Amino acid sequence: MSTTSIDSLLHEIRRFAPDPAFSAAAVAQPELYDRARADRLGFWAEQARALDWTTPFTETLDWSNPPVARWFGDGALNVAYNCLDRHVEAGNGDRVAIHWEGEPGDSRSITYAELTREVKKAANVLAGLGVGQGDRVAIYLPLIPEAVIAMLAVARLGAIHSVIFGGFSAESIRARVEDADAKLVITADGGWRKGKVFPLKHAVDTALAAAETSVEHVLVVRRGENDVEWDDARDLWWHEQMASASEEHEAQGFEAENPLFILYTSGTTGKPKGILHTSGGYLTQAAYTHRAVFDLKPETDVYWCTADVGWITGHSYVVYGPLANGATQVLYEGTPETPHPGRWWEIIEKYKVSIFYTAPTAIRSFMKAGREIPLAHDLSSLRLLGSVGEPINPEAWVWYREIIGGGTTPIVDTWWQTETGAIMISALPGVTTTKPGSAQVPIPGISVDVLDEDGSHVGLDSGGLLVVTEPWPSMLRGIWGDPERFAETYWSKFADAPNGPLYFAGDGAHLDVDGDVWLLGRVDDVMNVSGHRLSTMEIESALVSHPIVAEAAVVGASDETTGQAVVAYVILRSKKAKSVTAAEASQMLRAHVAEQIGAIARPREVFIVTELPKTRSGKIMRRLLRDIAEGREIGDTTTLTDTTVVTVIRETSR
Ligand code: WTA
Repeated sequence: MSTTSIDSLLHEIRRFAPDPAFSAAAVAQPELYDRARADRLGFWAEQARALDWTTPFTETLDWSNPPVARWFGDGALNVAYNCLDRHVEAGNGDRVAIHWEGEPGDSRSITYAELTREVKKAANVLAGLGVGQGDRVAIYLPLIPEAVIAMLAVARLGAIHSVIFGGFSAESIRARVEDADAKLVITADGGWRKGKVFPLKHAVDTALAAAETSVEHVLVVRRGENDVEWDDARDLWWHEQMASASEEHEAQGFEAENPLFILYTSGTTGKPKGILHTSGGYLTQAAYTHRAVFDLKPETDVYWCTADVGWITGHSYVVYGPLANGATQVLYEGTPETPHPGRWWEIIEKYKVSIFYTAPTAIRSFMKAGREIPLAHDLSSLRLLGSVGEPINPEAWVWYREIIGGGTTPIVDTWWQTETGAIMISALPGVTTTKPGSAQVPIPGISVDVLDEDGSHVGLDSGGLLVVTEPWPSMLRGIWGDPERFAETYWSKFADAPNGPLYFAGDGAHLDVDGDVWLLGRVDDVMNVSGHRLSTMEIESALVSHPIVAEAAVVGASDETTGQAVVAYVILRSKKAKSVTAAEASQMLRAHVAEQIGAIARPREVFIVTELPKTRSGKIMRRLLRDIAEGREIGDTTTLTDTTVVTVIRETSR
């Protein structure tokens, strides 16, 4: 984030006190903070007991061997049972679990009884294909009910899912399937996006042809009805398998630390890391935060989180949190502007959505398109709004409340990460007086701090690095196959704190005079584009994998709509690139990155340059490149080898 926007954030003085009527009926009451402060572990044990355990736990936390944490370690439960069967057994089988809208306008409403039946059948299908406890299953699907069913079926068997976002490329699938050594891939022929069917199975075919894998079968959901190639020995239609599957499936308990999923996310190196989450602690915090932060009243609310299940937000706040709580929710397959720019607001009106959770980048693009689009719809059912993924600028926050929330709804700005598994910092609706642009306070049960580089608390009205000071139930348990990288990335920076190592989040933060937290963006080489994490190194490696590229540097430059945008500076190999113009090379490389990683990583700009600014020790000066990309006066260049480089780059990027 640029310095100017940090300034405008920190000078924000508007305050929004809770409405007393909302507070009186709110799920979260101020005593939650006191209870959690008085007995933190007891508080978490109480939250965990809101779940159904096949073997009750007696030990809440084992932190004797940090950074390895064991939560509720001697207990056992079945995650899918907690999200499904128990609601049916409690008499809520007829409650709608999912109101699904397909992009072309088809829709399905699925009750808890129906969803439970489908998941039992799918669990039988997977078991029949040899999937059992600990096996990895890759899921590459559009946002259709089968995505949720597949995840829960894997969970029901004690196996591990690795959901790959449908926008990722064949190459990204290959890397993930190989890293996790997946046994089965579940995909679809295609899905709907922007009025067209995009092929998914084709990407899986390409990925598996290139992969050294152990994938035995590919299970294919029919959705796009596009033509697909078929390998009789490997491929199976989901609907055919489901048609003959038994509806009986008894959920078995698995130990609380049984792995639930791997989700790949960008780090500071070129290789995405497989973040590992386990069962009992993860589900405890996903369910508790979903209840308390979103003020969920499962009997009456209609909840909608717009995230895809390919991201952590879709795992925790589309699948596990809402379903563990027996919520009724909306699931929408397509893009917000298809077939018209008011599609989201039409869906809110149609289903009378009361709780809505989305990302600042979406809010900013609606602001740009104009308030008349949402205002043409009846949004009066909304009573709570949430934001996630990146800092929300105060103007977008206020617009969200005024235009979408009718000037009355509380807004919860929720800070968390793939690694934290669930919400960590957020206002509690009905309790907290909110400040536009600040995520504010750790939720009850969580403790965070802002430290300087030496590990000292920065004090009020100062900035530094955000850390989590105590282990929490939904914390990541590791990086798949790489315990050293896990310890090094998150736990080594502040390893010597008196009560064990502190979790380093990689975000900069400012504490205001009240002690509220204002997130300031990443402090490492991770960019945040439209709320999605991308690593500069990952895109640089994609660029240099192209034969015409000699060297590449990538930065995240601030962007009005997407928060940050990918900007690349590339030096071409003079021989290989002889016959292409700079404009052609730039186009080619943008497309190449999209093909290597996925469309979300496509650079906004690729500048062809002859040199890159480096320090005397040979490090690329990204800060300087960012200044150039954002059109700012460039800062201190005294450590540069050759200051003329900067002028050259400036000229070329104009
Ligand atoms: C950023 C998404 C400010 C942050 C759940 C974090 C935020 C990264 C917020 C994690 C927020 C997420 N305010 N920044 N409310 N929420 N971030 O893993 O930089 O996709 O480290 O998880 O997004 O992104 P991830």
